[in-house]
Amino acid sequence: MNGTGGLKAAFKAMIGWNRLSEARKAAGWRRYYVWLYRRNVAIATLVCLLPLSLSYVLRKSGSDKHQINGHRYGHLYSRYLTRLKYRRIRLLEIGIGGYGFALGGQSLNAWQAYFPFARITGCDLEDKRGLATPGTRIRQVDQSSAADLALLARQDGPFDVIIDDGSHLSRHQIFTFLTLFDALVDGGVYVVEDVMSSYWTFGGWDGVHIDDPAFARTCVGWFADLARYVNFDEFESDRGIDPDKLRVARQIGHISFEKNLIAVQKSLAPRGEVAITRLRPAALARSAGTAA
Ligand SMILES: C[S@@+](CC[C@H](N)C(=O)[O-])C[C@H]1O[C@@H](n2cnc3c(N)ncnc32)[C@H](O)[C@@H]1O
Repeated sequence: MNGTGGLKAAFKAMIGWNRLSEARKAAGWRRYYVWLYRRNVAIATLVCLLPLSLSYVLRKSGSDKHQINGHRYGHLYSRYLTRLKYRRIRLLEIGIGGYGFALGGQSLNAWQAYFPFARITGCDLEDKRGLATPGTRIRQVDQSSAADLALLARQDGPFDVIIDDGSHLSRHQIFTFLTLFDALVDGGVYVVEDVMSSYWTFGGWDGVHIDDPAFARTCVGWFADLARYVNFDEFESDRGIDPDKLRVARQIGHISFEKNLIAVQKSLAPRGEVAITRLRPAALARSAGTAA
Protein backbone atom coordinates (compact mmCIF):
# COMPACT_ATOMS: atom_id res chain seq x y z
CA MET A 1 0.00 0.00 0.00
CA ASN A 2 1.43 3.43 -0.94
CA GLY A 3 1.57 6.43 1.44
CA THR A 4 -1.74 8.02 0.39
CA GLY A 5 -3.53 4.65 0.40
CA GLY A 6 -2.18 3.99 3.89
CA LEU A 7 -3.35 7.36 5.16
CA LYS A 8 -6.83 6.84 3.67
CA ALA A 9 -7.10 3.40 5.26
CA ALA A 10 -5.99 4.78 8.62
CA PHE A 11 -8.51 7.66 8.39
CA LYS A 12 -11.33 5.23 7.47
CA ALA A 13 -10.44 2.98 10.39
CA MET A 14 -10.38 5.99 12.72
CA ILE A 15 -13.90 7.12 11.79
CA GLY A 16 -15.24 3.55 11.58
CA TRP A 17 -16.09 4.02 7.87
CA ASN A 18 -16.69 0.33 7.15
CA ARG A 19 -19.32 0.09 9.90
CA LEU A 20 -21.36 3.03 8.51
CA SER A 21 -24.63 2.45 6.66
CA GLU A 22 -24.75 3.29 2.94
CA ALA A 23 -26.93 6.33 3.71
CA ARG A 24 -24.37 7.67 6.22
CA LYS A 25 -21.56 7.04 3.71
CA ALA A 26 -23.50 8.96 1.02
CA ALA A 27 -24.08 11.87 3.38
CA GLY A 28 -20.37 11.80 4.27
CA TRP A 29 -19.35 11.97 0.62
CA ARG A 30 -21.74 14.85 0.01
CA ARG A 31 -20.33 16.81 2.93
CA TYR A 32 -16.83 16.16 1.63
CA TYR A 33 -17.66 17.47 -1.86
CA VAL A 34 -19.38 20.59 -0.48
CA TRP A 35 -16.31 21.19 1.73
CA LEU A 36 -14.04 20.79 -1.33
CA TYR A 37 -16.14 23.29 -3.31
CA ARG A 38 -16.18 25.79 -0.44
CA ARG A 39 -12.41 25.43 0.03
CA ASN A 40 -12.00 26.25 -3.69
CA VAL A 41 -14.35 29.25 -3.34
CA ALA A 42 -12.03 30.54 -0.59
CA ILE A 43 -8.94 29.97 -2.78
CA ALA A 44 -10.75 31.70 -5.68
CA THR A 45 -11.38 34.75 -3.50
CA LEU A 46 -7.66 34.94 -2.69
CA VAL A 47 -6.35 34.56 -6.26
CA CYS A 48 -8.99 36.18 -8.46
CA LEU A 49 -7.17 39.50 -8.76
CA LEU A 50 -3.95 37.85 -9.96
CA PRO A 51 -3.31 37.91 -13.73
CA LEU A 52 -3.45 34.10 -14.04
CA SER A 53 -4.10 32.49 -17.42
CA LEU A 54 -7.56 31.04 -17.91
CA SER A 55 -6.18 27.66 -19.01
CA TYR A 56 -4.18 27.44 -15.78
CA VAL A 57 -7.20 28.39 -13.66
CA LEU A 58 -9.47 25.86 -15.41
CA ARG A 59 -6.89 23.10 -15.00
CA LYS A 60 -6.19 23.81 -11.33
CA SER A 61 -9.92 24.01 -10.55
CA GLY A 62 -10.38 20.50 -11.91
CA SER A 63 -12.72 21.71 -14.65
CA ASP A 64 -13.00 19.27 -17.54
CA LYS A 65 -12.84 22.29 -19.88
CA HIS A 66 -9.05 22.18 -19.86
CA GLN A 67 -7.04 19.16 -18.77
CA ILE A 68 -3.87 17.52 -20.08
CA ASN A 69 -5.72 14.41 -21.25
CA GLY A 70 -9.09 16.03 -21.94
CA HIS A 71 -10.60 19.03 -23.65
CA ARG A 72 -8.33 21.98 -24.39
CA TYR A 73 -10.93 24.73 -24.33
CA GLY A 74 -8.81 27.07 -22.19
CA HIS A 75 -7.08 28.64 -25.20
CA LEU A 76 -10.39 29.09 -27.00
CA TYR A 77 -12.08 30.63 -23.97
CA SER A 78 -9.07 32.93 -23.46
CA ARG A 79 -9.66 34.38 -26.90
CA TYR A 80 -13.14 35.57 -25.89
CA LEU A 81 -12.91 36.09 -22.15
CA THR A 82 -9.49 37.60 -21.36
CA ARG A 83 -10.74 41.11 -22.20
CA LEU A 84 -13.51 40.64 -19.62
CA LYS A 85 -11.31 39.48 -16.72
CA TYR A 86 -11.51 42.66 -14.64
CA ARG A 87 -14.94 43.75 -15.83
CA ARG A 88 -18.19 43.67 -13.92
CA ILE A 89 -19.75 40.94 -16.07
CA ARG A 90 -22.65 38.55 -15.73
CA LEU A 91 -21.75 35.00 -16.69
CA LEU A 92 -24.24 32.17 -17.09
CA GLU A 93 -23.23 28.53 -17.32
CA ILE A 94 -25.84 25.89 -18.07
CA GLY A 95 -24.75 22.57 -16.59
CA ILE A 96 -22.91 22.41 -13.26
CA GLY A 97 -21.73 18.80 -13.40
CA GLY A 98 -21.11 16.29 -10.66
CA TYR A 99 -22.35 12.74 -10.76
CA GLY A 100 -23.11 10.26 -8.01
CA PHE A 101 -22.37 11.93 -4.68
CA ALA A 102 -20.34 14.73 -6.23
CA LEU A 103 -22.08 18.09 -6.51
CA GLY A 104 -19.81 19.36 -9.31
CA GLY A 105 -19.05 23.05 -9.61
CA GLN A 106 -15.42 22.80 -10.78
CA SER A 107 -16.04 25.26 -13.61
CA LEU A 108 -17.92 27.58 -11.25
CA ASN A 109 -14.79 27.55 -9.08
CA ALA A 110 -12.74 28.43 -12.17
CA TRP A 111 -14.96 31.40 -13.08
CA GLN A 112 -14.86 32.56 -9.43
CA ALA A 113 -11.04 32.36 -9.49
CA TYR A 114 -10.70 34.13 -12.85
CA PHE A 115 -13.28 36.94 -12.74
CA PRO A 116 -12.99 39.03 -9.55
CA PHE A 117 -15.98 41.22 -10.35
CA ALA A 118 -18.32 38.79 -12.09
CA ARG A 119 -21.78 37.81 -11.04
CA ILE A 120 -21.99 34.15 -11.90
CA THR A 121 -25.14 32.11 -12.45
CA GLY A 122 -24.88 28.34 -12.63
CA CYS A 123 -27.94 26.33 -13.52
CA ASP A 124 -28.69 22.66 -13.77
CA LEU A 125 -31.55 20.21 -14.14
CA GLU A 126 -30.53 18.80 -10.76
CA ASP A 127 -30.82 20.72 -7.51
CA LYS A 128 -27.32 22.15 -6.89
CA ARG A 129 -28.39 25.10 -4.75
CA GLY A 130 -25.93 24.01 -2.06
CA LEU A 131 -23.22 25.56 -4.26
CA ALA A 132 -24.55 29.13 -4.01
CA THR A 133 -22.16 31.80 -2.72
CA PRO A 134 -22.54 35.60 -2.38
CA GLY A 135 -21.24 36.04 -5.97
CA THR A 136 -22.70 32.87 -7.49
CA ARG A 137 -26.39 32.22 -7.95
CA ILE A 138 -27.56 28.68 -8.51
CA ARG A 139 -30.82 27.93 -10.31
CA GLN A 140 -32.61 24.70 -11.00
CA VAL A 141 -33.48 24.94 -14.68
CA ASP A 142 -34.42 22.55 -17.46
CA GLN A 143 -32.86 23.97 -20.61
CA SER A 144 -35.59 22.39 -22.73
CA SER A 145 -38.23 24.49 -20.92
CA ALA A 146 -39.10 27.88 -22.41
CA ALA A 147 -40.65 28.96 -19.09
CA ASP A 148 -37.51 28.05 -17.11
CA LEU A 149 -35.23 29.88 -19.53
CA ALA A 150 -37.46 32.97 -19.62
CA LEU A 151 -37.45 33.12 -15.80
CA LEU A 152 -33.67 32.67 -15.74
CA ALA A 153 -33.17 35.55 -18.20
CA ARG A 154 -35.55 37.76 -16.23
CA GLN A 155 -33.98 37.02 -12.85
CA ASP A 156 -30.29 37.07 -13.74
CA GLY A 157 -29.83 38.51 -17.25
CA PRO A 158 -28.79 40.15 -19.40
CA PHE A 159 -25.55 38.21 -19.64
CA ASP A 160 -22.13 39.09 -21.05
CA VAL A 161 -21.25 35.41 -21.39
CA ILE A 162 -23.51 32.38 -21.82
CA ILE A 163 -22.06 28.88 -21.84
CA ASP A 164 -24.19 25.88 -22.74
CA ASP A 165 -22.52 22.86 -21.14
CA GLY A 166 -25.80 21.15 -20.28
CA SER A 167 -27.45 18.13 -21.85
CA HIS A 168 -25.41 18.28 -25.10
CA LEU A 169 -28.47 17.19 -27.04
CA SER A 170 -28.68 19.10 -30.34
CA ARG A 171 -32.36 19.90 -29.91
CA HIS A 172 -31.65 21.47 -26.51
CA GLN A 173 -28.56 23.32 -27.72
CA ILE A 174 -30.47 24.93 -30.62
CA PHE A 175 -33.56 25.68 -28.53
CA THR A 176 -31.52 27.22 -25.71
CA PHE A 177 -29.55 29.38 -28.14
CA LEU A 178 -32.71 30.63 -29.85
CA THR A 179 -34.30 31.37 -26.47
CA LEU A 180 -31.35 32.95 -24.66
CA PHE A 181 -29.53 34.82 -27.45
CA ASP A 182 -31.79 37.82 -26.79
CA ALA A 183 -30.61 37.75 -23.16
CA LEU A 184 -26.99 38.31 -24.28
CA VAL A 185 -25.67 41.89 -24.25
CA ASP A 186 -24.40 43.49 -27.45
CA GLY A 187 -20.80 42.33 -27.94
CA GLY A 188 -21.40 39.37 -25.57
CA VAL A 189 -20.32 35.81 -26.34
CA TYR A 190 -22.42 32.64 -26.45
CA VAL A 191 -20.57 29.31 -26.33
CA VAL A 192 -21.98 25.86 -27.06
CA GLU A 193 -19.66 23.21 -25.68
CA ASP A 194 -19.11 19.58 -26.61
CA VAL A 195 -20.82 19.71 -29.99
CA MET A 196 -19.19 16.39 -30.90
CA SER A 197 -22.54 14.93 -29.84
CA SER A 198 -23.86 16.17 -33.23
CA TYR A 199 -21.95 13.27 -34.78
CA TRP A 200 -22.90 10.64 -32.18
CA THR A 201 -25.56 8.15 -33.22
CA PHE A 202 -25.12 5.86 -30.21
CA GLY A 203 -26.25 5.79 -26.61
CA GLY A 204 -29.27 8.08 -26.82
CA TRP A 205 -27.46 11.05 -28.42
CA ASP A 206 -29.36 12.80 -31.22
CA GLY A 207 -26.44 13.09 -33.65
CA VAL A 208 -26.32 11.67 -37.19
CA HIS A 209 -23.62 10.92 -39.76
CA ILE A 210 -22.74 13.92 -41.94
CA ASP A 211 -23.96 12.31 -45.17
CA ASP A 212 -27.48 12.11 -43.72
CA PRO A 213 -29.73 15.07 -44.70
CA ALA A 214 -30.89 15.05 -41.04
CA PHE A 215 -27.43 16.34 -40.10
CA ALA A 216 -28.87 19.81 -40.78
CA ARG A 217 -30.95 19.34 -37.62
CA THR A 218 -27.94 18.63 -35.42
CA CYS A 219 -26.29 21.43 -33.49
CA VAL A 220 -23.26 21.61 -35.80
CA GLY A 221 -25.44 21.36 -38.92
CA TRP A 222 -27.82 24.04 -37.66
CA PHE A 223 -25.07 26.51 -36.73
CA ALA A 224 -23.23 25.82 -40.00
CA ASP A 225 -26.42 26.84 -41.78
CA LEU A 226 -26.77 29.88 -39.50
CA ALA A 227 -23.30 30.96 -40.67
CA ARG A 228 -24.80 31.38 -44.16
CA TYR A 229 -27.18 33.97 -42.72
CA VAL A 230 -24.43 36.28 -41.44
CA ASN A 231 -24.51 37.90 -44.90
CA PHE A 232 -28.30 38.10 -44.91
CA ASP A 233 -28.30 41.58 -46.37
CA GLU A 234 -26.98 40.11 -49.61
CA PHE A 235 -29.95 37.74 -49.97
CA GLU A 236 -31.78 38.44 -53.21
CA SER A 237 -35.10 36.90 -52.23
CA ASP A 238 -36.83 35.53 -49.16
CA ARG A 239 -37.17 32.08 -50.75
CA GLY A 240 -36.46 29.28 -48.25
CA ILE A 241 -35.42 31.64 -45.48
CA ASP A 242 -35.72 30.41 -41.88
CA PRO A 243 -37.19 33.36 -39.90
CA ASP A 244 -35.57 32.22 -36.62
CA LYS A 245 -32.12 32.19 -38.20
CA LEU A 246 -32.73 35.53 -39.87
CA ARG A 247 -33.79 37.07 -36.55
CA VAL A 248 -30.63 36.00 -34.73
CA ALA A 249 -28.36 36.66 -37.74
CA ARG A 250 -29.22 40.36 -37.52
CA GLN A 251 -27.47 40.40 -34.14
CA ILE A 252 -24.41 38.28 -34.96
CA GLY A 253 -20.92 39.74 -35.12
CA HIS A 254 -19.21 36.46 -35.89
CA ILE A 255 -19.53 32.69 -35.55
CA SER A 256 -16.54 30.52 -34.92
CA PHE A 257 -16.32 26.72 -35.21
CA GLU A 258 -13.64 25.27 -32.99
CA LYS A 259 -12.84 21.69 -32.09
CA ASN A 260 -15.98 20.47 -30.26
CA LEU A 261 -17.13 24.01 -29.52
CA ILE A 262 -19.07 26.77 -31.28
CA ALA A 263 -18.79 30.44 -30.25
CA VAL A 264 -21.12 33.18 -31.41
CA GLN A 265 -20.30 36.80 -30.66
CA LYS A 266 -23.12 39.28 -30.73
CA SER A 267 -22.45 42.40 -32.75
CA LEU A 268 -22.16 45.70 -30.91
CA ALA A 269 -25.32 46.97 -32.58
CA PRO A 270 -27.91 44.91 -34.43
CA ARG A 271 -27.92 45.48 -38.16
CA GLY A 272 -30.87 47.27 -39.76
CA GLU A 273 -34.26 45.78 -40.39
CA VAL A 274 -34.06 42.66 -42.51
CA ALA A 275 -32.93 43.90 -45.88
CA ILE A 276 -34.11 41.11 -48.14
CA THR A 277 -37.13 43.17 -49.09
CA ARG A 278 -34.62 45.27 -51.02
CA LEU A 279 -33.26 43.63 -54.18
CA ARG A 280 -29.50 43.68 -54.65
CA PRO A 281 -27.99 45.26 -57.79
CA ALA A 282 -27.43 41.88 -59.52
CA ALA A 283 -31.05 40.96 -58.97
CA LEU A 284 -32.14 44.38 -60.19
CA ALA A 285 -30.06 43.97 -63.35
CA ARG A 286 -31.54 40.51 -63.93
CA SER A 287 -35.08 41.71 -63.36
CA ALA A 288 -34.41 44.68 -65.71
CA GLY A 289 -33.16 42.17 -68.35
CA THR A 290 -36.31 40.06 -67.94
CA ALA A 291 -38.52 43.11 -68.27
CA ALA A 292 -36.75 44.30 -71.47
C1 LIG B 1 -21.06 18.05 -18.59
S1 LIG B 1 -21.95 18.40 -17.13
C2 LIG B 1 -21.53 20.08 -16.84
C3 LIG B 1 -20.10 20.26 -16.43
C4 LIG B 1 -19.78 21.66 -15.91
N1 LIG B 1 -20.28 22.70 -16.77
C5 LIG B 1 -18.30 21.82 -15.75
O1 LIG B 1 -17.67 22.38 -16.68
O2 LIG B 1 -17.76 21.39 -14.72
C6 LIG B 1 -23.58 18.48 -17.73
C7 LIG B 1 -24.59 18.94 -16.71
O3 LIG B 1 -25.77 19.29 -17.42
C8 LIG B 1 -26.88 18.96 -16.64
N2 LIG B 1 -28.07 18.80 -17.52
C9 LIG B 1 -28.44 17.72 -18.24
N3 LIG B 1 -29.59 17.94 -18.88
C10 LIG B 1 -29.97 19.21 -18.57
C11 LIG B 1 -31.09 20.02 -18.90
N4 LIG B 1 -32.07 19.56 -19.70
N5 LIG B 1 -31.16 21.26 -18.39
C12 LIG B 1 -30.17 21.74 -17.57
N6 LIG B 1 -29.08 21.01 -17.21
C13 LIG B 1 -28.98 19.76 -17.70
C14 LIG B 1 -26.49 17.67 -15.94
O4 LIG B 1 -27.23 17.49 -14.74
C15 LIG B 1 -25.00 17.89 -15.70
O5 LIG B 1 -24.78 18.40 -14.40
